[in-house]
Parts: sequence; C-alpha cells; structure tokens
Amino acid sequence: MKDKLIIFDTTLRDGEQSPGASMTKDEKVRIAKALERLRVDVIEAGFPRASRGDFDSVQAVAREIKDSIVCGLARALDADIDATGEALKEANAARIHTFIATSPIHMEKKLRMSPDQVVTQAVAAVKRARGYTNDVEFSPEDAGRSELDFLCRIIEAVIAAGATTINIPDTVGYNVPHQFGELIRKLIERVPNSDRAVFSVHCHNDLGLAVANSLAAVLNGARQVECTINGLGERAGNASLEEVVMAVRTRQDIFRCDSSLDTTQIVPCSRLVSSITGFPVQPNKAIVGANAFAHESGIHQDGVLKSRETYEIMRAEDVGWSTNRMVLGKHSGRNAFRARMEQLGVVFAAEEDLNAAFARFKDLADKKHEIYDEDLQALVTEADLEAENENLQLVAMKVCSETGEIPCASVTLMYNGAECSGNAEGGGPVDATFKAIESIVNSQTELQLYSVNNITSGTDAQGEVTVRLEKGGRIVNGQGSDTDIVIASAKAYINALNKIIVPMDRAHPQV
Ligand code: KIV
Ligand code: ZN
Repeated sequence: MKDKLIIFDTTLRDGEQSPGASMTKDEKVRIAKALERLRVDVIEAGFPRASRGDFDSVQAVAREIKDSIVCGLARALDADIDATGEALKEANAARIHTFIATSPIHMEKKLRMSPDQVVTQAVAAVKRARGYTNDVEFSPEDAGRSELDFLCRIIEAVIAAGATTINIPDTVGYNVPHQFGELIRKLIERVPNSDRAVFSVHCHNDLGLAVANSLAAVLNGARQVECTINGLGERAGNASLEEVVMAVRTRQDIFRCDSSLDTTQIVPCSRLVSSITGFPVQPNKAIVGANAFAHESGIHQDGVLKSRETYEIMRAEDVGWSTNRMVLGKHSGRNAFRARMEQLGVVFAAEEDLNAAFARFKDLADKKHEIYDEDLQALVTEADLEAENENLQLVAMKVCSETGEIPCASVTLMYNGAECSGNAEGGGPVDATFKAIESIVNSQTELQLYSVNNITSGTDAQGEVTVRLEKGGRIVNGQGSDTDIVIASAKAYINALNKIIVPMDRAHPQV
C-alpha cells in the first residue's frame, strides 16, 4: 500500500503574491473550481485579514467548493485567526493555516521577539484556530534557516496544542535537496509527537530548487507538498504543482506515495491561471509548456513514431494536452455555449450575464471560425477585466500604419465619467496607441514589460497581451485579448492603468 501524498495548492494565496498577479473574487472562484476538478486536496484561498476584498474572496471560494478542503492563511494573531475562521465558516471542510517566523534573523530583526515569546504566540494561535476547526496547519516561517533544536521545540509544542499539519517552509529558497530532505527526516525522528501530524513542505524557487527540494522532502517522509500552478508565487515562485505531481506519478519506482489528482486537468488549469494572471507559460516549461511534448529533431521524431517510449516518459494526454479541440463555432447556440462554459467552471449567476457572454461569443465567432476552450476562457477573463476597469475604459480607437509613413493613433477613452480623446505618433502602431492613451492619462508609470501571445494557433487567433507597469515601487500587470493585437494591446494598457490608479490598502502576510 502506497501512502497518499496530499497536494496543497497555494496559487490563490502565495501565487497571488507575485507582483502583478492579483486576481478578482470571480477569477479566484474560477481557479478554485478548476483546482477542485483537478482533485487538489487543499486549496489555500487567500489571506482573509489582508483586506476586505481578500476576506470576500476566501468566503466566496469556501461557499463554492465542495470536494477540496478550503484553507485560509493567518498570522499567529487573534484578529487574523478570527477573520480566517469567519471567512471559512461556510466551507464544507475548512483549514486554518497559521504561521510565525522562527529563524534567528526573522525573530530578531522582523518580529523583535524572543524565541520563548514566539513559542507562546504560536501555541496560542493554534489553540485559537482549533476553536474554529479541527484542521489546523502551523508553519514556522523561514524554517529553512531556523535552528533545528528550536524547530523541534516549537513543533512539539504546536502539535500538543492541536496542530494537525506541520508545514516546513523554505521561505527564501535557500536550501538544497539533500540538506532539506535531511531536515525533514530529522524533524520527524526527533519531535516526540511527530506521529500526530502530517509533515508538509513549502519551497520557494530562488535557486531554481523548489521542486527538487520538495521531492527530497517527500523521499524523507513529508506527505503534503505545497505548490502552485505554473510555479507562480512570491519572487521566483513556489514549487510547481504539475512538476511535483508528475515526477511522483512517473517515478512510482522511487516514491512510496502518490497523489490522487486527475492529471488530465493539469493543462486546462495551467492555461486558466496563465490567462487570468497574464503570466505566460514559457514554451520549454516542463509538463505545461507548448514544447513539452514537441519533438523537433528528426531522430527523435523517427523514434517516437516507431515507439513513443523511446523519447517520451509521460503521455501528453495524461496531463491534458488532448483537450485542445475545436468546441464551438458561429452556429453554436446558447445552450451549447452555456453547457461548455459550465464544463469550464463558469456558471452564470443571472440570465443577463449569460446573454452578455453569449453576445461576446457571437462577436468573436464572426471574426474567428473555430472557437476553442482557450478562447472561451479568454472571453470570460476579458469580461472580468472590463468589470475591473472602473476609472478608464476604451471607447474607440483608430490606428494608421503605412509603409514610409510614421504610425499614428487616435484613442477615445471614458476617463472618470467623461469622454476624452488623444492622438499621438509612435515607432509602431502599439507605441503610438500607448502614447495616445498617455496623452490623456499622464500616468507617469514606467512600462516594464509588453508581451503578446497567441491564445490558439492560426493567423485569426486571438492575441493575449500582457502589460506590466511600475509606479513608485508598485507593479501591476494588465491584460487584454482580441483578434486585433493593437486593440488587445490598448485593452491591456488600460487594464494596467486602472489597477495602478486605484490605491491599494492590502496587507502582505509576511511583512
Ligand atoms: O514562504 C512562506 O514561508 C510562506 C508561509 C506563510 C508558509 O508562504
Ligand atoms: Zn511562501
């Protein structure tokens, strides 16, 4: 009998801590449903104490999700734990994840607390969390740089106080596999009551070792891995869910455990997260990159044609690549549209929402004959983005691009309730469009990234544009999609401006 490896997804919490990756409540619910279809065991839905919006999102996910445990993050503070308990009240199965830093540098410089105070606060937090649920996880933050004896002491104390999962984070991605694996083994061996909790790991990717460290921990007794779709997360990200899950599944000769995920949902889930956050997946990314199963060299192609196993260690369809098929077209009706959207996790709350989405679908089908799941996902994301654009909306635009002439653009925006127009010339049509928008808004932001990706293949494909802007140290990503990439670019720029204009009153859990 193999042990079960619990998969704890933190795309909606740590993933959202990637600069610019913030998600709306509806987007979080859509991702949570995709994670539920993937059969993720635990979904960390957010940090309810961060802001009213975060509280509402965790509450909405808790209401919608039935098959996965819904978890909320709380610092080891009464107010955080109470907010999290409250946000999770309606969950079918709820977990509170509380944490406090345990490394000498964090305790001394960040918390300004003695080790004794840290233990007392951790124990009090776990006891308080147990007042809301029997499922309580404790993380000694920066465990990867904490002293072993102190870790053993605090872990023993929180288990005695009622913690049922002990999560060991390599918060700053400093550890290397053999050492991290050894840390897990020693903790399990030395903590006297370790058999009363599941040991978990949460690795960051600063040295590109998050997946390797997580797997080393699993080999040494960890039975929960915290990870994110596409490896999204603070700084260089977290361990990538798809890589951890497929490594364990593919190498069952080595691992004495396996997850119970439906891996055919991996690629759809990865696409959804990428489309919602605007973080494209690099083509050579393991499992979910466009080239992950593509064979370029003639020798490899020949080998695969003769026997797939010559060069493939996994089957593309096992991770969901075969789902890329044409689903709807110009003549599809409302019911077919609704049914497919529901399969993608989009349920329309009201008839008007369905009608609006269907009208968008028909517009798209006029420009593009074959509509794929990715197009439908982009359609919903686009509607969410427009709803988000409170201060600034695109009304109309015209762009001229002609050989031998300087490209120019005229843009009309609705800006704080009034229609305003601007014209500009630029190095190309996109440059001219951004300058025309700037002539109206004068945002004083710095463009950090501009990228275009085609959502599906073919020259009639929709282009999905990501624009990253920076102002005063704050970074936001904007997205837009359209079959016309200049319009998609304008939409992405306007979406980013809307986000940066609004001041953010959101607390970061680890600051
Ligand atoms: O990286 C980290 O230490 C965290 C904790 C809150 C688990 O995200
Ligand atoms: Zn983290």
